[in-house]
Amino acid sequence: MPTDLVFPPGFLWGAAAAAHQVEGGNTKNDWWRWEQAPGHVAAGDCSGLACDHFRRYRDDFSLLAELGHTAHRLSVEWSRIEPRPGEFDPEAIAHYRDVLQALREHGLEPFVTLHHFTNPLWLADAGGWLRAEAVAAFERFVARVAAEYRDLVRYWITINEPTVYAFHSYHLGVWPPGRRSAAAALRVLRHLARAHLAAYRALKAANPDALVGVAHHLAVIDPARPASPADRAVAALWRRLLWELYPTAFARGAPWPARQATPPAEDFFGLNYYTRARVRFDPRPGHLFGREVVLPAPRNTLGWELYPEGLERILLAQSARFRRQGRPGLPIVITENGVADVDDQLRPAFLVRHLAALHRALQRGAPVAGYLHWSSMDNFEWAHGFAPRFGLIAVDYATQERRPKPSAHLYAEIIRRNALSREMLERYA
Ligand code: FCB
Repeated sequence: MPTDLVFPPGFLWGAAAAAHQVEGGNTKNDWWRWEQAPGHVAAGDCSGLACDHFRRYRDDFSLLAELGHTAHRLSVEWSRIEPRPGEFDPEAIAHYRDVLQALREHGLEPFVTLHHFTNPLWLADAGGWLRAEAVAAFERFVARVAAEYRDLVRYWITINEPTVYAFHSYHLGVWPPGRRSAAAALRVLRHLARAHLAAYRALKAANPDALVGVAHHLAVIDPARPASPADRAVAALWRRLLWELYPTAFARGAPWPARQATPPAEDFFGLNYYTRARVRFDPRPGHLFGREVVLPAPRNTLGWELYPEGLERILLAQSARFRRQGRPGLPIVITENGVADVDDQLRPAFLVRHLAALHRALQRGAPVAGYLHWSSMDNFEWAHGFAPRFGLIAVDYATQERRPKPSAHLYAEIIRRNALSREMLERYA
């Protein structure tokens, strides 16, 4: 019979969202413009009013507090705060002050993301992240936000999923600005790394006690044919790039291993974990020696493999990396983990199995400080539109009515106990 799996005292529990996906009315950024053109978003969806969270944030936070959450991740929308280059909007600044105060009043520790995929139109029109000027522009924005909210925010996330952003927007071309060039994506990644370092310094200058990190998307990468040495070698190479070389270099402000040994600029490691990729050796040029293949496996409604053990593997690999780098105990925060699931059939087991994997990693010494589920509520899932349902709370987009799903109540029970109970493990794990 399994015993209760108890989490450390003070473990942070919450959910995550991003401005453009929930607020509504974000008309001044590049995503809004992108959505207007047919073919860019599934079913022709536009973010529109989204969850109307821009007006309903107080009610939304009180619902999360009722569900026991103690932390919440959100992003501030750059295009609202700085609608024209160098011009800051006092109303938008006051708005987010009120949002952050509301979080505090509800006992929710804010995790504030500064770049979550969207850019002000003026930045996009000036060449976006392809241009080195974006770094200074981002630094100016971050310095202002850091000064405004230093009394309210301790945890900052400079950039959300740099590789996912660079890859979708500049290599695959399925997100704005729709470029298709590997060289462009690498250039963007370089600028994002420099922007992270500049933002890190600006945040620390405004408040030396600030804790600053990046939210990295890391997937497990395994060989498609485990018996094939070639597949295994490619998987190991990709893992080394994605799990080690890139996040280390990024935290130093460079896209690839920096020659000079500047210490990595991060106070915690943000991990977004969703899935596993299977890779098969492919020597053709442009393939980095392999390509992803889809094998039969349990999957979410977007087709992503459900692989809870991967969370344990990545947490252990990251904490081993931090030990090797002389930074043992660098805190890890799960900044996203969740499942597209239309009727909440998958989410209860998903939650319990991933939290059990997280607990195994904790027991083996991984310094995990908190878990933020993606997402607090159903929202606008970028090019997939509104169809995928990632929320703990269901949103009826016609009425804006909120309804916590069964998994939200299960999660509330886990938080209340600060543990997975034997019954939960027997039922779901
Ligand atoms: C991540 C994004 C987040 C959301 C989830 C499902 O890549 O950071 O905004 O779209 O995936």
